[in-house]
Amino acid sequence: MKVLGIIGRTDNPLVHDGAAALIIDNKIVYAIEQERLSRSRYAMGQGAPDAIRACLQDTGHQLSDIDYITYGWRPELQSSTKISDNISVSNELTHLILPPELYDLKSPPPIHFVQHHYTHAASTYFTSGFDSAAVLVVDGRGEGESISLYHAKGQQIELIESYPMLYSLGVFYAAAAERAGLGGLGGHSGPGKLMGLAPFGQLRQEIDFSFDPDKGQFTLPASIQKAVDESNTPLLAGDMWKFWHNYYGENFYPFDGQSQKASSAYDIAHYVDLAASVQHKLEQICQGLAERVKKLTGEKNLVLSGGCALNCSMNAYLSRQNSFEQIYVFPAANDAGSSIGSALALSYTLAPPMVPQPRPSAPAFGRSYSDEEIAIVLGNYGFIPEKLSLGELMERVATDLADNKIVAWFRGHDELGPRALGRRSFLANPAHRENLGRLNKIKGREMWRPLAPSILDEHAETVLEGSMEPGLHRYMLGVASVRSEWRDQVPAVVHIDFTCRPHFVQKEEDGLYWQTINAFYKKTGIPLVCNTSLNVAGQPIVHKPEEVLDIFMTQDDVQTLVIEGFYLSKPPTSSAEQFKQSKYELSTAQK
Ligand SMILES: [Fe+2]
Repeated sequence: MKVLGIIGRTDNPLVHDGAAALIIDNKIVYAIEQERLSRSRYAMGQGAPDAIRACLQDTGHQLSDIDYITYGWRPELQSSTKISDNISVSNELTHLILPPELYDLKSPPPIHFVQHHYTHAASTYFTSGFDSAAVLVVDGRGEGESISLYHAKGQQIELIESYPMLYSLGVFYAAAAERAGLGGLGGHSGPGKLMGLAPFGQLRQEIDFSFDPDKGQFTLPASIQKAVDESNTPLLAGDMWKFWHNYYGENFYPFDGQSQKASSAYDIAHYVDLAASVQHKLEQICQGLAERVKKLTGEKNLVLSGGCALNCSMNAYLSRQNSFEQIYVFPAANDAGSSIGSALALSYTLAPPMVPQPRPSAPAFGRSYSDEEIAIVLGNYGFIPEKLSLGELMERVATDLADNKIVAWFRGHDELGPRALGRRSFLANPAHRENLGRLNKIKGREMWRPLAPSILDEHAETVLEGSMEPGLHRYMLGVASVRSEWRDQVPAVVHIDFTCRPHFVQKEEDGLYWQTINAFYKKTGIPLVCNTSLNVAGQPIVHKPEEVLDIFMTQDDVQTLVIEGFYLSKPPTSSAEQFKQSKYELSTAQK
């Protein structure tokens, strides 16, 4: 059975993270985010037309081959069940989610709309490899709720409780990020930045927002509860956003970071204590929710999804509390993952597999490129393609990293979700603190934002301490502390609180990526490299070879480029412009 899952729509400029996925017989065959194709970060209000076309074309399918289409949001006009009945293509919503040429087809597949939080739950439980689990979904908001607790057993996921938008942890957290001038919910990486900022701050003030796991009750700060009580109209997410903004202004640094940024007076240091307080509260409340869902299900495993589950520090906090034996977070916990989740939800309902599907080793569900395709692109850029053996490639990259060069690494399929896990990454030597600044400069990131390590799995406990949960660290979704004896050796990945956000790399699963880090380890004694996503300021992670070549050609400090088995390296003193000139002259001379 073939199901095409979609998220994203074109009628609302605030709807973000459009994506499409193809599920065949309950297996994820392909998935990609709209932003990677449209080259517009977060694909605000774009829907997912390019992602849908890629799903079909890159897997050799026509829409007529597809049995069902699913969409990861259940509009209010549909039924109240978690998956709607078949909806006619003439439904007014259809043209908002399908590209015009598909909408105009005479007999497109039946469409089902799937409740948003249920898509998050399905994406994380059905990919967890568990045969039962407690499920916690926490995001900005679904159709009406902002937090949902489920009990998953076998092929069934049943809702136990949900909490309304009034208590949205996504709004609570993102409003603080916006307050700090980092950008808010949807279309911003503000919440991720606020998480990185929090360890710089002190918990000077407890936010009086709490959750009682025994009663299943939230308590809002008194001033917000008063504003809620006095409101004459039904509260929308924007109202809660405003209430939290006011609260932060009254209780923390009183000036708004967004307006501060317009003046020279802006300084992120003013917001570090706000970040610390908000992060602390998110962790406390999510631990309360974890205790609640544990109590209601009795399960030993916890799976999470929704945008808040991208908060690595919170995930690690839950892991440290040991309420559950194992924790797993679906790596595309943002709304892009709803493409997969909605399709899996329907597929498991209509034709469930006999046994749980294995957990994917990485969310590498997108496009890859053949040597022939890459050779043509390299030729178009004036390069004479030189393909290396994998052994030679690994050796050269390890040598370059040891020589403190920055490597652009492009191999394999696009990864779904915000983390780069060794397929489209910048790599660097963690032994030099300067590399934090070099990479942040290339990527246009704030200089205080940390870098993550990709670490050989078998050496993780030598370098790190704290939670070693593979369901988090395989996907760069937790944090661990760098052991004191290692901090001086890998300063580029040590954050202000001595933590890092590791990515565990396994020999059996990660092939040449593991071998390259291992070759670097043999040269330096350091079993990890800096790994950050392969994109520059304002751009999504690269998708095509041309996009990484453009970065290589314009960024002086990126000295080495790997595209599959092809290797390019700039002469030591060459700027990108000099290199570009010399390569064109070389290729012209040899033609
Ligand atoms: Fe969501």
